[in-house]
Amino acid sequence: MARETWATRAGFILAAVGSAVGLGNIWRFPFITAQEGGGAFLLVYLLFVALVGFPAILVEFVIGRYTNLNPVGAIRELGSGAWNYLGWLFVGIGFVILSYYSVVAGWFLRYTLIGVVDGYALAGPEEAGALFGTVSTGLDSLLFHAVFMALVIAIIAAGVRKGIEVGVKVMVPAIIALLLGLAAYAFTLDASGAAYSYYLSPDFGYLVANWTSILPAAAGQAFFTLSLGMGVMITYASYLGEDRNLASDAGVIVALDTFIAVIVGFVVFPFLFAAGIDPGTTGAPAIFVSLTSAFSGIPGGRLIGIVFFAMVGIAALSSAISILEVLVSYLIDEFDVGRVPAATAIGIAVFLLGVPVTIDLIFLDLYDGLASGVLLLVGSLLLVLFVGWLIPDVAREELRKGITSLGGLDDAWIWAVRVPVVIAIVVSLYLGIVDYAD
Ligand code: PFF
Ligand code: NA
Repeated sequence: MARETWATRAGFILAAVGSAVGLGNIWRFPFITAQEGGGAFLLVYLLFVALVGFPAILVEFVIGRYTNLNPVGAIRELGSGAWNYLGWLFVGIGFVILSYYSVVAGWFLRYTLIGVVDGYALAGPEEAGALFGTVSTGLDSLLFHAVFMALVIAIIAAGVRKGIEVGVKVMVPAIIALLLGLAAYAFTLDASGAAYSYYLSPDFGYLVANWTSILPAAAGQAFFTLSLGMGVMITYASYLGEDRNLASDAGVIVALDTFIAVIVGFVVFPFLFAAGIDPGTTGAPAIFVSLTSAFSGIPGGRLIGIVFFAMVGIAALSSAISILEVLVSYLIDEFDVGRVPAATAIGIAVFLLGVPVTIDLIFLDLYDGLASGVLLLVGSLLLVLFVGWLIPDVAREELRKGITSLGGLDDAWIWAVRVPVVIAIVVSLYLGIVDYAD
C-alpha cells in the first residue's frame, strides 16, 4: 500500500502544533517555572527555544521530508554503522514518554469528570491533597490511563488523514479558544497584577546564583515542549508530499508552542495567587492540588475548572498520538504490519509500561527525569551532530526546497547546528546529570 501523506496544507502544521502543545505547556511548564524562580527561568527558556529549539526542529524536518521514512528507516538510509542505533533510541524514548504521559493525561480526564459530577468544593488544601491521592494512585489512575490509551490507539488506528489530521483540526483550535478564554477570565481576578509581576520580572541575582540548575531545566523543558529528540517531527515531516517552506513552518510551530506556554503562565499564576498559594511550593503533583484548591475558591471556579481540565486533556491527546505514531510508523514501514494491529499491540505495551506510575509516583519522577532530563537531550544531540557533520550538504539542499529566498539562513543553520547548539546541549546535559545525581 502507498505510504500516506497529509491531505491538506494545514494538516502538517496543525499536527505538529498539536504534538507540541500538550502537558508540556500546561502542566510541566508552570511547575518547572515556579520551581526554578519564575521570571528568571522564563528568560532562559525563551532563549533556549529560539537558539537551540528552532535549529533542532529543522534538523528533524529535513530528515523526515528527505527520506519519507519512519525515524529508524530514515537514519539507516542516511547513515551507516552505529548510527542505526539512534533510530532505536527514539523508539525506546517513545515508549517511556508515552507511558507516563498517558497516566498524567488520565488524571486530567478524571478531574474533568469530577468537575462535571461533583464540582471542586473542597474544604482546603488537605482535602484537595486527599482527592489527588485517590485520583493519582491505584485503580482510579489505572482505569483512566486505560481510557486515555484507548483514545490514542483509536485515532492512530484510523490513519494519518482520517485519524491524526481530522483530530488535530478539531483539537488545536479548541485548545487555543479555551486557553484565551481562561486567560481573559484570569485577567479579571484581583490577584492577577501580583501574579504577572512574579512571572514577568526576572530576578537577575537569582539567575546568576542558580544558573546551573536553571539551564538544564530550561533545556529539558524546551526539547520536551517542542516534541524534539525522539523522532516525532521526523515522522510528521515524512508524510509531506510537497515542498513546503520548512523554515517558516518551523517558525510558526515554535512560536505557537511558546506563545501557548507563556499564556498558560498568565492563567495558572493568577489562579494560584487568587487562592493565596505560593507558586514556589508546587511540584508535579502539587499543581493539581493547588489548582483544585484554587478552583474551589474563585468565583465560577467549577465551570472554569472543567474548561481548564478538559482543555489539558484535549491537548494531551493531540500530543500523545504523535508519540504512538512514531512507534506505529516504524512497524508499518519496516515489517509491513497493518496499522490497526500495530497501533493496538504497541498501545497495549505502552499501557503496561505505564502501570508502575499508577502505583507509585516515584516512577513519575523516574520516567520524566530520565526522558526529559537525559534521553531527549541525547537524542537531539546525536541528531544535530548527524546532520551538521555527516550530511550537511544533503540537509542544506533539502532545506532550500520550497524556499525562494533563504538569505543565508541555510549556512547559518548548518553553522549553528555544528558547534553552538552542540555546546549548549552538552553543557545542559552535563549540568542536568550532576543535578539529577544529587
Ligand atoms: N510536546 C509535548 C508537550 O509539550 O506536551 C510532549 C511530547 C510529545 C514530548 C512528543 C515528546 C514527544 F516526542
Ligand atoms: Na509543548
